[in-house]
Amino acid sequence: MSFPNTRLRRLRKNGSIRKMVRETQLSLSDFIYPIFIKPGKGIKNPIRTMPDIYQFSTDTVMNEIDEIYEMGIRAVLLFGIPEKKDSIGSEAWSEDGGVQKTITAIKNRYPDLIVVADACFCEYTTHGHCGVLSRGELLNDPTLVNLKKEAVSYARAGADVVAPSGMIDGMVGAIRNGLDDADYQNTIILAYSAKYTSAFYGPFRDAAESAPQSGDRKSYQMDPANSDEALREADLDIEEGADIIMVKPALSYLDVLYKMKENFNMPIAAYNVSGEYSMIKAAAKLGYMDEKSVRDESLISIKRAGADIIITYFAKEIAKEGLLRQ
Ligand code: PBG
Repeated sequence: MSFPNTRLRRLRKNGSIRKMVRETQLSLSDFIYPIFIKPGKGIKNPIRTMPDIYQFSTDTVMNEIDEIYEMGIRAVLLFGIPEKKDSIGSEAWSEDGGVQKTITAIKNRYPDLIVVADACFCEYTTHGHCGVLSRGELLNDPTLVNLKKEAVSYARAGADVVAPSGMIDGMVGAIRNGLDDADYQNTIILAYSAKYTSAFYGPFRDAAESAPQSGDRKSYQMDPANSDEALREADLDIEEGADIIMVKPALSYLDVLYKMKENFNMPIAAYNVSGEYSMIKAAAKLGYMDEKSVRDESLISIKRAGADIIITYFAKEIAKEGLLRQ
């Protein structure tokens, strides 16, 4: 069937018709909102490179949690900055670490708010790498031992989901074993399966104070040029027990997201990372683009490409102001 019998513009005629035939919808339940926890009291530090995002201490964060819960957000992702960094990042599994305390406080007040804890070490180590370092090399298997401890300690604090983000080989299996041995069979693992070495993480490293002090993360995070490798990573993670797999960053990797969704029949998450957020904020501030339109278009593209879940710093403002297209 072709023109003139077929006129595709018929279905674009007005807003109601467009809405009726819209293939992709965003909703608040798609989103996970990241939050940064800093030691101390009364802290609400703005982050220079991420407008409207703050570091909170364990007391002030509960006001933020009240606010976002009230707005309808039902999932948060916690990152912790330690009191004291050391060479292996041992505060990551401290029973009274900031993240652990925050998890418990949130779950006590809002049992139905999903709490995801990022399991990594870059914020916790003096060198800023994601595990145990020796002569500039990130040691794989010794890092697994510590990752287990970190994951179990988050589960013990009450986390619903543990999200290993270090791209350490075997991390999902090690964490699954650790959780099961400690009787946390029902703790969910959201694996950062295809996490690329990306300059789009720049602003995050201000927020989490986690920039590597020397070198880069190219020997553990993926090469942006590869996508077959992303499928291999995901395959292994699924075999090791991942419940949800993730692609990160999102916008420059929509093809990878699409391939993941085509290949695996399971929930897929995408991380709309700090740089993707800050670029839009910066362009809007300069008056170059309309912030809300660009924001919504970016998020719908992530969902259309295959994401079931989107981690985004925009979640709060969307919860407050709504999506343009709804
Ligand atoms: C730490 C981690 C990073 C992000 C999430 N977890 C940074 C990194 O790998 O350097 C980036 C998130 C963002 O940019 O929003 N492993």
